[in-house]
Amino acid sequence: MTELALRGPIYTLVADPFLNAPADCVVYESDGLMLIGDGLIHDIGSYADLRDKLPAGIDLRHYPDAILMPGFVDAHIHYPQVEIIGSYGAQLLEWLNKYTFPAEARFVDGARARRIAEFFIAELLRNGSTSASVFCTSAPGSVDAIFEAAQRRNMLLLAGVMMMDRHAPANLVDTAQSSYDDSKALIDCWHKRGRCLYTVTPRFALTSSPAQLELAGALLREHSDVRLQSHISENRAEVARAAELYPARKHYTDIYEHYGLLNNRAIYGHGIHLSEDELRRFHETGANIAHCPTSNFFIGSGLFDMAKARDAARTVTVGLGTDVGGGTSFSMLQTMNEAYKMAQLRGISLTATQSYYLATLGSAEALGVADRVGSLRAGYAADIIVLDPKATPLLELRANVAESLDELLFALMICADDRAIQATYVAGELVHERDAAA
Ligand code: GUN
Ligand code: ZN
Repeated sequence: MTELALRGPIYTLVADPFLNAPADCVVYESDGLMLIGDGLIHDIGSYADLRDKLPAGIDLRHYPDAILMPGFVDAHIHYPQVEIIGSYGAQLLEWLNKYTFPAEARFVDGARARRIAEFFIAELLRNGSTSASVFCTSAPGSVDAIFEAAQRRNMLLLAGVMMMDRHAPANLVDTAQSSYDDSKALIDCWHKRGRCLYTVTPRFALTSSPAQLELAGALLREHSDVRLQSHISENRAEVARAAELYPARKHYTDIYEHYGLLNNRAIYGHGIHLSEDELRRFHETGANIAHCPTSNFFIGSGLFDMAKARDAARTVTVGLGTDVGGGTSFSMLQTMNEAYKMAQLRGISLTATQSYYLATLGSAEALGVADRVGSLRAGYAADIIVLDPKATPLLELRANVAESLDELLFALMICADDRAIQATYVAGELVHERDAAA
């Protein structure tokens, strides 16, 4: 039953602009209408075509000066790191030891986990991210806390307990067997409960023994629709250490592949230093990458080569992640901004179409959920954001001279942030309203 209708300019990606003509990838209605019920979009099109379908007395909300688009999908983020965002002066391995591990160790405290989970979900929604793939800690209670917070808003959220049985502080390490048991119990409890999806989460090869990676592979085999998230090839010292720890493996990607962790249900953060041979394995197996530019700049990890990853001859599916707290912003707009700059330093200029694709449908594809989120279509979730292109004086000045939608969207992704998220809807419910909150 239609319970809500949203009217206004509607912008959505429907296909991958790295592989298709841009005009075939975007659907834009300058005066559009969405009919929403049971958490889903029932009908979408122009107001002129659909107005006759509006039930009498329907709750119709009109946003004539905004742009309605799918909620952003953050393909990689760590909720227990939210308090250490913006921590000074270290590259990856030192940053993990100095800031990250102590922060994560505090999540054995369930009350703390619930408090930070609540903050984190509200912050995602304030920034227009309606779905995310979330790393927790090795404490199973940290997973309960984030799924409970997500479920209260009916969000599609992916998360899993961090598997790490070596080279980390004693108060964080599990064992191969305990991580398997914890993961299995959490899958039974949370996978497909509401919109929650479980994702097996070995931190990375450096903190997992061969036995633990073996059991991560077993979890994937035993649960045919559970996903996997991890990290790969973010930092050169990390890549060298992975080779030392797994000397029999051809390269970093081969470590994960050897244990059955490279397939179309897997998404790996970063992948900055992957070789051509490794990218080819990603392509051939359907494995995905979460590109996290604010983190890569901040931790000094390197410049991801988007053109190489998305080379149509052997393309790898890429989504966009904030990687908070290595990343420096919850805003996917700011993440698009930094992705653009990183690509510039690699000699290509990402288009607005490519950028919004990465932040919505691309991330959804990389996470295996593009059949329900990341795009605005009939049958898809009513996970929708209302973007205000004149949210600040500077944005208004800029918007006033924009001569095309592309120009406006591009300036927005470079200059806008959470202030431009006027409203956020999850499954057809208003879950954030900027001006009400203020
Ligand atoms: N590699 C392994 N763990 C982490 C983490 O928590 N953050 C980042 N950025 N990289 C990692
Ligand atoms: Zn990460």
